[in-house]
This record gives sequence, C-alpha cells and structure tokens, in this order.
Amino acid sequence: MQPTRIQSLNQFENILLNEITAHSQTFILCDENTNTHCVRVLIENVPGLENAEIIEVPSGEESKCLQIVEQVDLELLERNADRNALLLNVGGGVITDLGGVIAATYKRGIDFIHIPTSLMAQVDAAIGGKCAVDIGSSKNTFGVFQFAKEVLIYTPFLETLPEEERLSGFAEMLKHGIISDPNFWTALTHIDPKNTNELALFVERSVHIKNEIVKEDPTEKNSRKKLNYGHTVGHAIESFFLENSTPLSHGKAIAWGMQIENNIAVKEQFMSQQTASEINQYLQLHFGEPKKFNALEKDTLISFMRNDKKNDKGNIQMSLVSEIGKCHINCEIQEDLILQSL
Ligand SMILES: NC(=O)c1ccc[n+]([C@@H]2O[C@H](COP(=O)([O-])OP(=O)(O)OC[C@H]3O[C@@H](n4cnc5c(N)ncnc54)[C@H](O)[C@@H]3O)[C@@H](O)[C@H]2O)c1
Repeated sequence: MQPTRIQSLNQFENILLNEITAHSQTFILCDENTNTHCVRVLIENVPGLENAEIIEVPSGEESKCLQIVEQVDLELLERNADRNALLLNVGGGVITDLGGVIAATYKRGIDFIHIPTSLMAQVDAAIGGKCAVDIGSSKNTFGVFQFAKEVLIYTPFLETLPEEERLSGFAEMLKHGIISDPNFWTALTHIDPKNTNELALFVERSVHIKNEIVKEDPTEKNSRKKLNYGHTVGHAIESFFLENSTPLSHGKAIAWGMQIENNIAVKEQFMSQQTASEINQYLQLHFGEPKKFNALEKDTLISFMRNDKKNDKGNIQMSLVSEIGKCHINCEIQEDLILQSL
C-alpha cells in the first residue's frame, strides 16, 4: 500500500526533496491542462523541482493507449532516464493510469509518485495501485497492479478543474458511500458538488474508504470487487461512447452504470424499489437518466460486458448493492436481464 497524504505545498517540499535527491533524474508527466494549472504551481512552490524534465501528452482518454506509452518511453530514452529515475504523474486519472503503466514497465520499473489533480484521481484513480491503458475501445485492458511510492493530494488544484470534471469525480465519491458508508452518502447528498471548497472537505473520507477496501484485498481477488459497483455496465457505456468518438466522462458513465445496475438488483429481488429510487433519483439530478439504447447498441454493450475483468467462466458478474452501505460481489447476471434493464 502506498502512503496517501493530503497536504499543503510546504509539506510536499520535504517529501519531494528527499525523493528527488535519492533519484538520478526527475521527470514530470502531465497533459496540457495540468501543465498550465498545476505543474507551474508545483515548480514555483517546491524547491528541487526546477530541474525536473517535463513530458506532456495530449489531454483525454485517447492518450491512455500503448502508442503514447511507447512515445513517452522513447522520450525517456532520449533524455537518458536510467532505472533510478523518478516519475511524477501530475494530472487526472488518465495521467495517473498512463504514468503508472509507464513507470511499472520502463526498463522493468522505475519509482513513481502520483500527484492527482482532478477529483476523480484524488479520490479514486491514484489510490489503490491499479494502472492501465486501453486497447482500442476496451477499457483498462493492458495494465498492472503497482503502488506509487507516495500519493500526494493538494485539494486547491480542484479550483481550476472544469465543473463537468468535478461532477465526474463526485460520482465515485457517491459510490464509496453507497457501497460502504450510509452516513457518507447522506452527507454528500447535502452538499453542492459544484462547490470546490465543500467537495474538498470530503476528499479525505473518500480516500480513507477506498484505502480500507484496497488494504483488505490489494489485487482484487475478492472484496475489492465492491469498488466495481456501477462499473460493469458503466465501463461498457464508456467504451461504447469511446468507440463512437464522443467520449463520455468516466463519472457520468459510472453514474448511469449505477442506475442500471440498481434496476437489475431490483429485478433480481436483491434491492428494494425504494432504495433504487432513492439512489437513482439523486443520481439523475446531477448526471441525468441513462441514454435509451436501441437493440443494436444494446448488443454492442453486452459484447463489451462479456470482456469485463470480473467475469467467471464466460458469465457476466456484477457487484450489486442490497441496501445503502452493503455491496455484494460475484453476482452472476443473465444477459436477458441486462438487455431488459438497459
Ligand atoms: N486506476 C483506477 O483505479 C481508476 C479509478 C477511477 C478512474 N480511473 C481512470 O481515470 C480516468 C478518468 O480520470 P479523470 O476524470 O481525472 O480524467 P482526465 O485525466 O482526462 O482529467 C479530466 C480533464 O481535467 C483536466 N484536469 C485535470 N486536473 C485539472 C486541474 N487541476 N485543473 C484543470 N484541468 C484539470 C485534464 O487535463 C482533463 O482534460 C479514466 O481513464 C478512468 O478509467 C482509474
């Protein structure tokens, strides 16, 4: 497990300075937005970072691919990065996922630190050691479990995050409440998710919930699968939109996935209609109702779900919630029922 620290830039200084001096070279991986809004702030405020070499990739899910891994590896080679180099991943979930894969594999592995800058990355993507890139439209197909040396969270970075991206991360915070903490869910439903200051107050609790689940089962053999609630359907929806070149934010796809999986849970007599309505109505307030898919589109979604990493012996398995705070893993769901619920 990696230490996760929610800190001020002054506190970053001590940790980073030690790490920078212990390594041969420091590289910063970022995209154009996090370069403008976050890397500059870090370099101006953290002595020792002024000599770090910056590698910028285009923002967006399209950068989470093997071609970009190869491109960054070539840049590292050209800049003579050796096995004692340090990679700082400064960005949203795309950068932490991509940077994790690069660091885990470049010359068989170099040290890396995540400095997550989006809400999604602070409460979820940077926590728990999962790093992956997509193969075509198939999400997170090429990846590893590899923990960062440190995860350093500076919540004021959220101030420049576009509103839609804040909402995207909020979806995963809500998921943390729904799968394990009814009080957290209730508290979140009383805040304004567009308000950065309010959101920032709840980052620590969200990180704690994820870390506790990961600690119990780091490589997702059992209980960690709870974190996949909403993701069997949600990832299929995200892949569908990616394939059609109109990417949907990860959080919105997951919020739609949670609604559809709740409807499946009701049909399976697993969740009460009242609980499903409570969760779905709140999710619809911020993320809208899921798109109505036609028959052909539903078939495409099912084919993505057949490749879900949780499946067993070719059967689609979901993590379903019975009541707020209680999530159950390995629920085998028939394709007919999924089709009816989409
Ligand atoms: N590894 C995991 O456990 C895990 C968990 C959840 C999500 N993910 C992955 O994370 C990705 C989604 O992450 P995301 O929502 O952060 O997407 P993202 O990295 O694309 O960031 C969203 C947008 O916000 C911009 N941005 C980020 N920080 C900013 C800041 N402080 N100011 C201004 N702009 C900023 C980015 O440049 C980008 O345009 C998906 O690929 C998803 O699969 C991984």
